[in-house]
Amino acid sequence: MAVQADVERTRPDRTLLSPDCTARENGTATRAKARTPDEWRPPTDSGFREVGIAFLWACLIMAPILGIGTWFVYGDWREKEDARLAVIWAAQAYERLIAAPAEGMVPVSDAVRGRDLFTSACIACHGPQGTGVVGLGKNLVESDFVAGRTDDELRQFLVMGRPNARPVAMPPKGGRDDLTDDDLRHIVAFVRGLQDPRRMPELPAVVAAAPSEEQKTAALQAAGGDAELAEYIASGDKLFHSTCIACHGKAGVGVQGNGKALVKNSFVQSLDDDGLLAFIKQGRTPTDPKNTTGIQMPPKGGNPALSDDDILDIISYLRTLQGDKPVTTPAIK
Ligand code: HEC
Ligand code: HEC
Repeated sequence: MAVQADVERTRPDRTLLSPDCTARENGTATRAKARTPDEWRPPTDSGFREVGIAFLWACLIMAPILGIGTWFVYGDWREKEDARLAVIWAAQAYERLIAAPAEGMVPVSDAVRGRDLFTSACIACHGPQGTGVVGLGKNLVESDFVAGRTDDELRQFLVMGRPNARPVAMPPKGGRDDLTDDDLRHIVAFVRGLQDPRRMPELPAVVAAAPSEEQKTAALQAAGGDAELAEYIASGDKLFHSTCIACHGKAGVGVQGNGKALVKNSFVQSLDDDGLLAFIKQGRTPTDPKNTTGIQMPPKGGNPALSDDDILDIISYLRTLQGDKPVTTPAIK
């Protein structure tokens, strides 16, 4: 009993001993009470509320104006960005073509006919494999332009060419007015095979086409009845009209902006067969002082397959284009 009374007596004593401790406990309680959310009120006397409302109104009014402005700026940017991406996309057409699975095989018959036409109309400037000739036509194999176009678009391009390109133009139809739409379609098929070898079927060896009856008759007449000479002339006529025609035109009348006319040509007349053979084998670079057009006359007219005999046949044919001059070869000095 005495002990309990003792304890009761001590408690108030302890409080008395640390009065500030009690006070702190009380103060904490009061502050916690003031912080409860349902008791907070925005200050009504500071003007914050008015400023806030004004700000909201401003936003509401500005939103459509900013929106339309942004829309225009974005549209402008989008257009430029699209154009930029389109350029990049177009510049990777060849890469994509090679990376993608191959399209269908080009039919053999299309490719063979295309090859014949390509040889006579395009090889001179674009080379036998279509990889281009320095100073003349571009590489058609690693061409994003070719890879990025449909067959129809490519055919339409060939009809137009790029007659204003400098220093060498891509003439409409490669300078061959006689090519029909069907011919161009075959050329496009062959170019597809050149560009993507996975699509090129195995082709039979090239057979040199024989001169036509028309060419034979003309040759015999030009040779004055000499059957042997007529044979050379007819063969030369045929070869000229496959290799040289692209730049020198049909029957050597010349092509504007490219090869000179070889009809009644004083340069041809000034050289004997050996001299002409040497010239044709070597060609004439644009930097040659004798070059007057600034365009290259490629060695062998760009057809490395021509033998000396082939070129001598062509020379026999060229002699027939010299007007009144005798067709027979001039005496060798
Ligand atoms: C007299 C020379 C010549 C002949 C012949 C020629 N081309 Fe061209 N070709 C060019 C030149 C030069 C260019 C490049 C023009 C340029 O600078 O844009 C070109 C460009 C092209 C291009 C565009 C290539 C690209 O990447 O931009 C294609 C396709 C083409 N030629 C196909 C042909 C075909 C097919 C033939 C045959 C029917 C042919 N060319 C005959 C000279 C020629
Ligand atoms: C890719 C176009 C091209 C082809 C293909 C081509 N030539 Fe030429 N040839 C020229 C050009 C361009 C000149 C004129 C160069 C100059 O300015 O002197 C020329 C000049 C000549 C000349 C000299 C004419 C002169 O008056 O100076 C002869 C001859 C000639 N070519 C023969 C041929 C023969 C033959 C073939 C076919 C085996 C052939 N060329 C194929 C472009 C070509």
